[in-house]
Amino acid sequence: MPMETLRLDASNPSDLECAAELLIAGKLVAIPTETVYGLAARTFVPDVVAELYRVKGRPQDNPLIVHCATAKDIERIAIDIPPIAWRLLERFAPGPLTLILKRHPSVPPIVSAGLPTVAVRIPAPAVTRQLIARVGEPLVAPSANRSGRPSPTRPEHVLEDLGGQIAAVLDGGPCSIGIESTVLNLTDEPYAIVRPGAIGAVELSQMLGYEPPIVRHSQDVAPVAPGMKYRHYAPRAPVFLTSTLDAIPHGALVLTTEPLPNEDYHIRPLSRQTLYDEFRRADREQAPAIYVYLTPLVLSDEALMNRLEKAAVSSQHTDNFTR
Ligand code: TXA
Ligand code: MG
Repeated sequence: MPMETLRLDASNPSDLECAAELLIAGKLVAIPTETVYGLAARTFVPDVVAELYRVKGRPQDNPLIVHCATAKDIERIAIDIPPIAWRLLERFAPGPLTLILKRHPSVPPIVSAGLPTVAVRIPAPAVTRQLIARVGEPLVAPSANRSGRPSPTRPEHVLEDLGGQIAAVLDGGPCSIGIESTVLNLTDEPYAIVRPGAIGAVELSQMLGYEPPIVRHSQDVAPVAPGMKYRHYAPRAPVFLTSTLDAIPHGALVLTTEPLPNEDYHIRPLSRQTLYDEFRRADREQAPAIYVYLTPLVLSDEALMNRLEKAAVSSQHTDNFTR
């Protein structure tokens, strides 16, 4: 049933209050975070969480992240929290680090797609933490895109995918980081990164005493059906990754971090902040294909490469490039 999606201003206290009231009433509200916009809903109401999966078109076997206002909130979501979790939070929270912990029995299983674990993080924007505190319970929030589409880094992206299907989007401006949080699993040793993000393995190693391994191809793949692969973070146009300029046809749309010698390409800037916006722009412009020119800078960025490889999964033309 279509509805009017309100556009609320995060810097306006009465709009923030309106967002809180909608959430308390069990509605879905897109919220700003430092990484990407999230589609927030109440954690402890299974019907509301089920509606969130439905509206996003998300496979039921892909668990959600619970967003907390404070570290103390995490005790409502997880049990047997290891001391390293508190030390990591002291250093990196609020910020783009998500921790996988043991799920608290009071958290509905649907939040974690039935897993005994749960993902939690504390988002950086103060307004977003104020909102969670005002609602009075941590909020589940997957990225606020339709499943399979690039994550939204601006309120317009949310409206593009979910306008008319959610109660509101809280406009906090463009996201400062632009790609999703680092997800670190603390339920198995060695602790491992299941999704690379802004906080890298080297930074984490200072706290862990070792560099956490990066588990490849595990995120956004159903944990209970590991053979299945979704094409994620993907624009409609096929995405080709190449480190060979000759492989790029003249006139093609090219995302790159460096000016290219040839003036014949349609060049757009590539960075964590601009990636998803450029993917969406390419779709609006109905670009037939997107080429990504892999410079050493891009190849050395684990988090960015992870998103690019996922976007290119179903475009068989990825060249052999060395990382
Ligand atoms: O930056 C972010 O993390 C954004 C903002 C909105 O906070 N959220 C986000 O959520 O990216 P989502 O739902 O799009 O991605 C959550 C990721 C998925 O890869 C999911 O499989 C993984 O976290 N995840 C969640 N719970 C998990 C669990 N219990 N075990 C393993 N992976 C989990
Ligand atoms: Mg997502």
